[in-house]
Amino acid sequence: NTDLRESMYLVSEFAQKYFHDTLLHTEEGKAIGLSYFKERGFTAETIKKFGLGYSPETWDAFSKEALGKGYQLEFLESTGLTINKEERLIDRFRGRVMFPIQSMSGRVLGFGGRILTNDKKAAKYLNSPESDIYHKSKVLYGIFHAKQSIAKLNNCYLVEGYTDVIQFNQAGIENVVASSGTALTPDQIRLINRLTKNITVLFDGDAAGLRASVRGIDLILEEGMNVKVCTFPDGEDPDSFAKKSSYEDLLAYLEHNAKDFIQFKASLLMDEAKNDPVKKADLIRDMVVSISKIKDRIQREVYIQETSRIMDISEQVLLNTLAQMAQKDL
Ligand code: CTP
Ligand code: MN
Ligand code: MN
Ligand code: MN
Ligand code: MN
Repeated sequence: NTDLRESMYLVSEFAQKYFHDTLLHTEEGKAIGLSYFKERGFTAETIKKFGLGYSPETWDAFSKEALGKGYQLEFLESTGLTINKEERLIDRFRGRVMFPIQSMSGRVLGFGGRILTNDKKAAKYLNSPESDIYHKSKVLYGIFHAKQSIAKLNNCYLVEGYTDVIQFNQAGIENVVASSGTALTPDQIRLINRLTKNITVLFDGDAAGLRASVRGIDLILEEGMNVKVCTFPDGEDPDSFAKKSSYEDLLAYLEHNAKDFIQFKASLLMDEAKNDPVKKADLIRDMVVSISKIKDRIQREVYIQETSRIMDISEQVLLNTLAQMAQKDL
C-alpha cells in the first residue's frame, strides 16, 4: 500500500533529521557522537553528506518527540524506530551513532546504529528491522551518492560496511556501495547492473572477507557481469586503508591490486595447492565452476586460456570439464 509506505518514509526522514540535529546541536550529541566521528576522521562535510546522526541515551526521547510532532505510533512501530512493549514505548536506537540507509532515489529506508565502544561482546551494529520499506537484501548502502559516478566511470566498488563507503567518498572515490555485512544477494547485484556491468569487490582483509569475496564472484558472474577482486592487507578494511592513504595512493593501490577472478583464486590458494596435486586439482575445478557461470562464450574461452596458462594444464582438459558440468546442469 503506497500511502502506508509514504507515511513510513516520512517518519524515517523525520528520524534522520532528529538524529542529525541531535548529533550537531545537543551537548550529548556533540560530546559523544561528534567526537566519535571526528576520531574516525569524518569531516563536517562528510557528516552532512551522509546525514549521519546520534541517538540519545534515553528510553524514549525520540518517540516522544515524534508523537508530539504528530507522527503516528503505527508508523513508528512499523519502521521499527519505536518498540511498543506492554504499552511502554522504547526507542530502538539509544546511545548510538546513526547511519541512515537511503534508496537509489535518496529516500530514507532505515538505519544502522553503531555502539561507541569496541566491546567485542556487544553486537557492534543494530539495524532497522525488515519492513515494507526496508528490505535488507535489496538495498545497497551508498547507492544514492554513488549512482552517477558508477555510470560515469563504468565501474562499481563493492565494500562490506558503512564506514568503508563513507571513507572512500571522503577520499574522493564515489563509485562505491556496501552490501552492509549481509552475504551479497542477486537483488543487490541487479541494482548495480542497472548502472554498470563491472564490479570490483573490496572486502575486508580477513578470513571472512576472503570467503565472502569467493562467494560473491559466482553470483556476479551469474548475473552476466564482470568481476575483479582487490584484497587489503590482513586486518585492514577499505575504511582503515583509505583513512591513511592519499587519494593518489589509494587509486594506485586499487589499480595495481585488482585481479580478475582467476588470478584472485590462484593468488589465494596457490600457496597451499602448489605442492599438493589433490588441492591443485580442487582449485582448478573450482575455477572451472566459476567459468561455467559466464554467459559470454568468448569470455569463457579467454578465461579457459588464462586458467590453462596460470595453472599449467591443457585447455582441452578444462574444456572437457566445462562440458561435463554443463551436462550435469541439464
Ligand atoms: N554489520 C552489521 N551488524 C554487525 C556487524 C556488522 O550489520 N553486528 C554490517 C554493517 O553494515 C557493517 C558491515 O556489516 O558496516 C561490515 O562489518 P564490519 O567489517 O565488522 O564493520 P565495519 O564496517 O568495519 O565497522 P567499524 O569500522 O565501525 O568497526
Ligand atoms: Mn515490499
Ligand atoms: Mn569485516
Ligand atoms: Mn570492516
Ligand atoms: Mn572498519
